[in-house]
Amino acid sequence: SPSGSLVIAVDGTSGSGKSSTSRGVAERLGLRYLDTGAMFRAMTWWLLREGIDVRDEAAVAAAAGRPTIESGTDPLAPTITVDGTDVSVAIRADEVNAAVSPVSAVPEVRARLLELQRKAIGEGGIVVEGRDIGSVVWPQAEVKVYLSADPDARAQRRTAEQGGTDVARTQQSLLERDRIDSGRATAPLTMAEGAVHVDSTHLTLAEVIDRIVALATRARRA
Ligand code: DC
Repeated sequence: SPSGSLVIAVDGTSGSGKSSTSRGVAERLGLRYLDTGAMFRAMTWWLLREGIDVRDEAAVAAAAGRPTIESGTDPLAPTITVDGTDVSVAIRADEVNAAVSPVSAVPEVRARLLELQRKAIGEGGIVVEGRDIGSVVWPQAEVKVYLSADPDARAQRRTAEQGGTDVARTQQSLLERDRIDSGRATAPLTMAEGAVHVDSTHLTLAEVIDRIVALATRARRA
């Protein structure tokens, strides 16, 4: 297919390097970039701010239609707003990290965001990162990648990124999110049919990006 309509789905566990990788691939290929995790985080941020109990599935389901969530798709400057407020920084807070997986397991939340995600993908020309992009959101994606890394490597990278020092605590938080994201009934994290597994444990960011760019180049020729 022509590069303009190409969709590259990048799924994987928390802290596997999906964001840096996806942005890098989008930059290299001149594609847009969509961070679907940021959309689930934005929903979670809004629920917390509204004082809605994020463990109360019925309350979360009833509220899921209320916030207006908009994502920018420039890989050099990803933005996300809720009701017009930029929450790009706020959605990375610990409270959001702790609440986002249970919120993401609520089917009404997923249905709402699925609609926004498909709208944003539109005609394609985009790298989309998440947990269920290749399996549910866009199974027809020309390139599907399942990105993983050993828990130790993920925790070390994520701790460094956040300027922290408690690697063990970061690892515990990552593994807890993986457990909930992989175990939920609706659109769990799995390796999609046709996905290429890239284990980034012993690869540099540049090497991971090169592999995906190569897959995309091959798909475009096909
Ligand atoms: O990629 P991330 O760590 O920012 O994602 C945050 C959470 O959002 C993740 O733990 C589960 C949820 N998520 C999801 O359920 N489906 C997606 N496509 C993307 C993220």
